[in-house]
Parts: sequence; C-alpha cells; structure tokens
Amino acid sequence: MLERLQKIISAAGITSRRASEALILNGQVAVNGVVVTELGSKADPDKDTITVDGKPLKIESHRLYILLNKPPGYITALKDSQDRPLVTDLLKDVPDRVYPVGRLDYNTEGLLLLTNDGDWANRLMHPRHEIEKEYHVRVRGKVIDQQLKRMAEGVELEDGKTAPAVVSLVKSGEQNDWISVAIHEGRNRQVRRMCEAVSLSVVRLKRIRYGSLMLGTLRAGQFRYLSDAEVRELSGEPAKSLFVRQPQREVSQKAARTERSGGKASGRRQQ
Ligand code: URA
Repeated sequence: MLERLQKIISAAGITSRRASEALILNGQVAVNGVVVTELGSKADPDKDTITVDGKPLKIESHRLYILLNKPPGYITALKDSQDRPLVTDLLKDVPDRVYPVGRLDYNTEGLLLLTNDGDWANRLMHPRHEIEKEYHVRVRGKVIDQQLKRMAEGVELEDGKTAPAVVSLVKSGEQNDWISVAIHEGRNRQVRRMCEAVSLSVVRLKRIRYGSLMLGTLRAGQFRYLSDAEVRELSGEPAKSLFVRQPQREVSQKAARTERSGGKASGRRQQ
C-alpha cells in the first residue's frame, strides 16, 4: 500500500516525522534508486526499496498473511446476525484485524487465507490469475467414472457451465468415497453444486490446496503465518526479502477444544 515517505521513514524508527521531512528535502532519501526531494511523495514499503543516505530502510512489515485450517461450523464473515462462531474467533493473538481471502461455506473445512493486505487479497481473487483450489470431498455411496468425467468436463449450473476441472477418485470406503476436485473458478458453493449436478451427495468438504500452498499438517482451528516466499509466490511476484516479516510459527487457539468436540465449534449454536 502506498504511504507518504516521511511516514514510512519515521515508522522505521530512525527519526521523527519532522526530521524525516528534512532528510527528504536534503536529498538524502531515494526510492528504487531515484532521489526524492518532494514532500508528500509516496512509496510502498512492501515493494519499493527505500534508502536513506544509501542504506536500505529496515521495515517491520505490518502486513499479516495467515493460513488457517478452518473447522466446520465457523463462518467466513466478520460478524453474523445469528451469532455463529466466526473464523476470526480463532485468531485471538493476531495483532491486527485480518480479512478472509474469499470464503468457505459454514460447513466447509480446510485451508483459508486471511490478511490485512487488501491489494494482495484482490490479486489472488482476480479471475485473471486463475489460481487453482483443490478440495477433497467425501460423498455418500460409490461414485462412478461417468460422474467424475461429467464434473471434469463442466456441468451446467444455474449461473452457467463450469470450466473444466481436474477430478479424480482419492479413496474408496464401505459407505463413502473421497474424490478430489480442483477448480480455478470461485463461484458460490461451486463444488457442492457441481456434486449435486451429477447426483453426488456431499458428506464432507475440505479445501486442501490453494495454488501452490498445501494445508499440510495443521490441525482444525490451528493457523500459521505465511513465509515471505509463500506470500510472493501466491501472488505471482518474484521472491525478495527486503523486509523483516512475522516469524514462522504455529499457533493453536481453540484447537484442543475443537478437537475435543469432534471438530465442531463448541459453546455456540450450530446451523
Ligand atoms: N465450494 C463449495 O461448494 N463450498 C466451499 O466452501 C468452497 C468451494
């Protein structure tokens, strides 16, 4: 996000806002190698290289990028008129307000990204990027090849035919089969509706991949911060590590409680 240079310099802790203005006026500040002497000039601390007297600024990024393993029974909104549990309830220690990148249904589980970087979220969600999302779906009974083939080729939904998808059988059980569905569109309840269209009844739906990012071994309700490389790779930017980012860590908030209650949110009304 673009910010005034004097604000960026003073936020880096090297001097006050007033003294930062003097540095700019004296021609001591450069952005991407170009000296800037105009007060009010802006730069993006996450993308631009800002130097004072030739030395790069060390900026503690205030951008937060989070991967949460969303349990079923949580909604991906910031408030809910029915007072159901919110995904942000799971992020109590996170120092700033973050917003979900896209949404998962109340009963869908798995990989959910959250951030306070609106530009990054918009880039990820822009249809131009066609980021592939992969879901594992437990369906009632047995699937047949014809159902998988129809989903892969595209099925007719009320808002139009779905784009080709990558669909395969993952596991076959006595009562249920698991299938994998990878799509790059982001329509509302798309996977559930695709399954319905070929007469498959969804028992469980879990997102296990977002582009190159895997859900991995995080337990339901746990989250971790993304690394700088993961953040850049997802939005298609080359890796660079000018700024100090949040350390990698795993945080278990309500995981224990969630696990104890069989993966369901406890203490609040269920749908
Ligand atoms: N498709 C769905 O049907 N639901 C989700 O939550 C995500 C993808």
